[in-house]
This record gives sequence, C-alpha cells and structure tokens, in this order.
Amino acid sequence: VSLKPYNTFGIAANARYWVEINTEEDLQTLLQLTDYTGFPRLILGGGSNLLLTHNFDGLVVKINIQGIDVVREDDRHVYIKAGAGVNWHELVMYCVNHDHAGLENLSLIPGTVGAAPMQNIGAYGVEIEQVFDSLTAVHVPTGQSRTFTHADCGFGYRESVFKRECKGQYIITSVTFRLDKQPTFHTSYGAIQEILSDMGIDESRLSIKSISDAVIRIRRSKLPDPAEIGNAGSFFKNPEIPKSQYETLKEQFPAMPGYPVGDRAVKVPAGWLIEQAGWKGYREGDAGVHAKQALVLVNYGNATGNEILNLAHRVQASVADKFGVSITPEVNVI
Ligand code: EPU
Repeated sequence: VSLKPYNTFGIAANARYWVEINTEEDLQTLLQLTDYTGFPRLILGGGSNLLLTHNFDGLVVKINIQGIDVVREDDRHVYIKAGAGVNWHELVMYCVNHDHAGLENLSLIPGTVGAAPMQNIGAYGVEIEQVFDSLTAVHVPTGQSRTFTHADCGFGYRESVFKRECKGQYIITSVTFRLDKQPTFHTSYGAIQEILSDMGIDESRLSIKSISDAVIRIRRSKLPDPAEIGNAGSFFKNPEIPKSQYETLKEQFPAMPGYPVGDRAVKVPAGWLIEQAGWKGYREGDAGVHAKQALVLVNYGNATGNEILNLAHRVQASVADKFGVSITPEVNVI
C-alpha cells in the first residue's frame, strides 16, 4: 500500500500491510488476532506529524473512528465526545458553528482528534489540555479499553504520557472535550491582535467565529498548505533553556525573543534561531526550509524522508554551533 496520500509530508513510502479501523470493537478484534503480532505496527491518524524515512515492513493501522456527540451538559459547559478519526478542523468548525467555546484558537491544525492529545497540540495561546475532559484508549497488549482523565495524561508542552511512559502501549479511540457556554477569548498572541484590528474587529465585537477566522488567516499566511507543499507543521519544538543561558545569549544577540517559563527557564522560538542561522528559504533538491516560517521543513515534490532528515540534522548542528542551543524534532521520525 502506498503511504504517500496518508502523510502530509507527501513522502513516497509503502506499507507491507494496511488495515482501517472504524469502531473500537474492530480495534479490539484486531489486537486479538495473532497473525500480525510479529510485525511492527504503525498507528496512523491524519499523518500530519510524521516523517517516513523508509518503507514500513509491518502493519499500518489507520484509525477512522468517526462521530461527534454531545454527551453531557451543565450550566457552564457542554461535553463533546469525538471519535479518534474525526478530522481536527471539522471538530473545531462544529464547535464554532454551535457556539461551544474553547477550540477556536486551534482552527485549521491538520490531523485527527485521536492524535491531538498525544502531543497536546497548541497554537495562538491555547493548548488542548485547557479544554480536555477525558479520553478512551485501548491497551495494546490486552485489548482492554480504559479511560484517561486529565491528570492521567501528564500533559506538558507538546508532551503527554502517550509520548513517554505509555509510548506504543495505547491506541486512543475517542476524546471528550469540555467546552464553555460563555466564551473566554484568548487574544494575547500578537498576531491575533494585529489581524483582528486589520479586520476592523474590536473587543466589543469579538466572537468565537471572529477568533477562528483570525487564526485561519494567520495560518494561511505563514504555514504551507500540505495539499500544495508537503510538510508536517513545526518540525522542531521550541527549546527551553535556563534563564542564565538566555541572559548570556541576549548580550550577544540582543534581538533574541524569549518567553519566561516559570522563574528559571525561557522558551526561545526555534524559528528565530533557524532563521538567524541562515536557513530560512533554503532549498536543496526538493527538501527545504519554508520561506515564511523557518520552523517548518517542506517537501517541494519528490524529496525522500532521508533528504528531509538530513536537512533537519544540518539545521540542528548549525543552530547548536551558533547558539549552543539544541533543538529537537517534534515530528515522529519513522
Ligand atoms: N520567528 C522568526 N522566524 C521564523 C519563524 C519564527 O524569527 O521564521 C520568531 C518570531 O520572533 C516570532 C516567533 O518566532 O514572533 C514565534 O513564531 P510563531 O508565532 O510563528 O510561532 P512558533 O513558535 O514558530 C508555535 C507552534 C506552532 C503554532 C504557533 C502559534 C511549536 C513547535 N510550534 O510556532 O505550532 O502554530 O506557535 O501558536 O510550538 C505545530 O506544532 O506544527 C505548529 C505549527
């Protein structure tokens, strides 16, 4: 099976076996089959956080579980359960159109609902942990279904237990979100304020819809559309460095942006470091660094996964060389 249509980087690679899962029961049945136990398994959502560097000699499990349902409601909240295979932006649009507040800043992020909690997706001042209620997942070794609460998930910046101690152990089948009936608008991000003022929208006319529209505009202006240019969004995480190191660097590079994380650390935008190291807009063959956002690596057509990975390594080495800061991929490299 060709995986090219199933990874947003548009890398040409094949899978030996392929199965599509439409219900949690399908998944439990699959896990009880012994036929494939010897093979490596790759769980696939929207394929938007993935770099394939070779053919996959195993079973690819495409999670296709659908459904968006209101499961509970109280004075302040609406609880919405979505299948792991639901397209993320489709869920956001459902909430925006029904006036359920909380996901609007996360408009237009590629991928599926099931993949979202794994790396606690976030953008423009909101992370999904802020609206997360719980999720269900199937335990791979036993096929048992289990509920994870917010605390169980151990969320951090682009982090959760599913990337650490539970890695490879669970397959997420649905996620329940707690949305607000009364919106709280998150407009602190500079780019949102600029666009809202361009759109002629002031505080009094703010709505969930206008924030969603603003975010969509920003993303369209900066981030390449995977349908046109292959990419997996930010390739690297923004590094957190000790405050003392930041202060030393700031003397040498006074323009270096930084956002405090607690009292002792500072998060530095990797896009800035990469741009300053001279990579923005760089292209070699079909592998490149996006010209409008240096944190995004792109495939202009026929780059191989290894060409992209090579470029990533060179970018990492040059950032380390210039700033003494190490940046690590947020994309899953297979
Ligand atoms: N910057 C540059 N040059 C660049 C890119 C960025 O100098 O080429 C600097 C600018 O100073 C800018 C700052 O970096 O003010 C921040 O840039 P931006 O607002 O584009 O955000 P980011 O830190 O590069 C993160 C997320 C994005 C998310 C945006 C908006 C990570 C790894 N990435 O990017 O998430 O959309 O913030 O909240 O945290 C993703 O994860 O795939 C993703 C796109």
